[in-house]
Amino acid sequence: MASDESTVRSELVEGDLGYRRFRLGGFEFRRDRYFAHVKWPKGSHSLDVTAFAKALMRDVAWGFFYGWVNFDDVFGTTNHYGTVDVYAGRYNAGFRAAGTDYFETFPTSQAGATFNAMLEDWTNEGFDPFAAPQETGNAYGPKTSSNLAAVRRARVVCKRAVGLAGDIPRRTDENGYPVNRDFADVPQDEPEVRPEPGFEGQIHAFNLYSYLSRSDVTWNPSVCSVVKDSLFCPTSEEHILPIFHGNDRVEWFVQLSDTIEWEVADKETGSPRARVIMHAGDVAAMPADIKHKGFSPKRSMLLVWENADSKLPALYAGGKLSPYPVDF
Ligand code: PHB
Ligand code: FE
Repeated sequence: MASDESTVRSELVEGDLGYRRFRLGGFEFRRDRYFAHVKWPKGSHSLDVTAFAKALMRDVAWGFFYGWVNFDDVFGTTNHYGTVDVYAGRYNAGFRAAGTDYFETFPTSQAGATFNAMLEDWTNEGFDPFAAPQETGNAYGPKTSSNLAAVRRARVVCKRAVGLAGDIPRRTDENGYPVNRDFADVPQDEPEVRPEPGFEGQIHAFNLYSYLSRSDVTWNPSVCSVVKDSLFCPTSEEHILPIFHGNDRVEWFVQLSDTIEWEVADKETGSPRARVIMHAGDVAAMPADIKHKGFSPKRSMLLVWENADSKLPALYAGGKLSPYPVDF
């Protein structure tokens, strides 16, 4: 993410346990032992600091992602690809009715730099916001240190495909990616590629299951193959997706192993739409007008298929495209 440190407004305040307080436009952010507190001109809200840190980690690492990143039912961001809205209560019927909802639009670099600085300051050694709960310490307590190696982890984005020359390498024991405890049974052999004469260098394959079995993070889709705007973004999942993602386009899900349950709600009002239970082999299209959150009882593998065409958000928002990819 682009970051301009000069735009970050923060201060150390007596009694804040060593954590900095951050300001972004009319928003103020502070944390204590257990909670992150967000204040805006017309209201305030508190979130469990673990949940806040995990959502913040994704928003920072994904550059505000596609569309809406709801940290919870109240606070979140909307990506307009160049600018970003930071909102509180904007998609919450109660806040709307009370007139206490609020949002401000910032250059992406300004919001990104502030969120990044907050993530770095508020994360102590021993807590990794990308890790599964059983593979990290907790986020609670006063400031002791930092964990820059964890919070500066770059999202994997390949140019064409994992394993091609000059592209993202396969994961191995040797380059620091051992097989996860829950994927000990995943075969690790690589496909044998035998191109016909004249096609050498044009045919490629890799073992995606092996690649995902060695992921050290959860709920972090990485771009593993690219064909024009078609991005395959597989990911390994365990416990709960830390955000409620509001789509600005259709996304396809292919469940590659185990089970994930999805809670699907209306993007604007938050009213429940569906509970989608996906077992290995199931395929679902998530419409462009919903938000969703996933629950994975054991580590599982999910392929998220994204269409990166930058014209899509306006076509859906303007009603030029149906929010559903198919009609039955
Ligand atoms: C999504 O919002 O579609 C999403 C985000 C992160 C994941 C999986 C799915 O790990
Ligand atoms: Fe999504």
